[in-house]
Amino acid sequence: MVQTYLQLRLDLASALAVFLEPEEAHAESIRWFEDGLGRSRSWVAAHGGERVPPEVRRQVGAWVQRRQKGEPWAYLLGWSTFRERRFKVTPATLIPRPETELLVEAALEVGRRLGVDRAVDVGTGSGIIAISLALEAGWGMSATDVSPEALGVARENAEALGARVTFLEGSLLAPVPDPLGLVVANLPYVDPADRPTLQRELSFEPETALFAPDRGLKLTTDLLTQARTRQAPACLLEIGAGQGGELCRRALGMGWRKSLVHQDLAGHDRVLIALA
Ligand SMILES: C[S@@+](CC[C@H](N)C(=O)[O-])C[C@H]1O[C@@H](n2cnc3c(N)ncnc32)[C@H](O)[C@@H]1O
Repeated sequence: MVQTYLQLRLDLASALAVFLEPEEAHAESIRWFEDGLGRSRSWVAAHGGERVPPEVRRQVGAWVQRRQKGEPWAYLLGWSTFRERRFKVTPATLIPRPETELLVEAALEVGRRLGVDRAVDVGTGSGIIAISLALEAGWGMSATDVSPEALGVARENAEALGARVTFLEGSLLAPVPDPLGLVVANLPYVDPADRPTLQRELSFEPETALFAPDRGLKLTTDLLTQARTRQAPACLLEIGAGQGGELCRRALGMGWRKSLVHQDLAGHDRVLIALA
């Protein structure tokens, strides 16, 4: 039977609705068409009666099978957007989250107020924070990660977007020379005890990008300690809901002069700012 694009969109939404909420399935079917097939809603409205080539049907069928197993759409597509830029993502990198924009905005504001000319992004993953700050603030940027695969993706993204960032392999601030400048990080902060309650999609993302010991606080605490010892003017961290109070107390105990928490639109702790 000949299948048209309109029919394919309806079939896709029904196939996705088997494992997604109906509104989510509808929105995702539109996204698949736009980002995956390059067919906008207005194109479908004008050309929905056209016949779908067999290779397109096969491609969509293969995507549905992988998506049904819980694989996130960004990994099927191979890219995601952050601050309106397109970043390559692979299973070696975390998929960019919209919440991380709050961290980038806070870093831009604090860095400009302090007059910094350099910054380091710790745990860079696909490079979204370092690349956004390099392009938007013009600071000299370096970025670290323990994952050589993630650093490879970040390098590709920096090159594709024309950003100058020095990528360094190693733990936290160890590979970065002094002076550090502003320290910014979205490190793993999920409590391993929460693993059973997490969304199925998260099991496709790297463990080392998600979980940290000490109820999710170990890496952020270690970074605050290193940044303080090495005289960074400020350290900004993305943090988990409910982690703000404890991390602020720890930061003040390390000798940071001031420590404050910004919440996201849902009212959850999201960004910790420690000032020297
Ligand atoms: C939550 S992901 C964030 C990635 C990216 N910054 C973003 O916001 O999408 C955390 C990243 O930290 C890296 N990481 C984990 N432990 C690290 C460590 N000790 N030092 C440096 N990077 C680390 C992981 O490999 C992962 O890429």
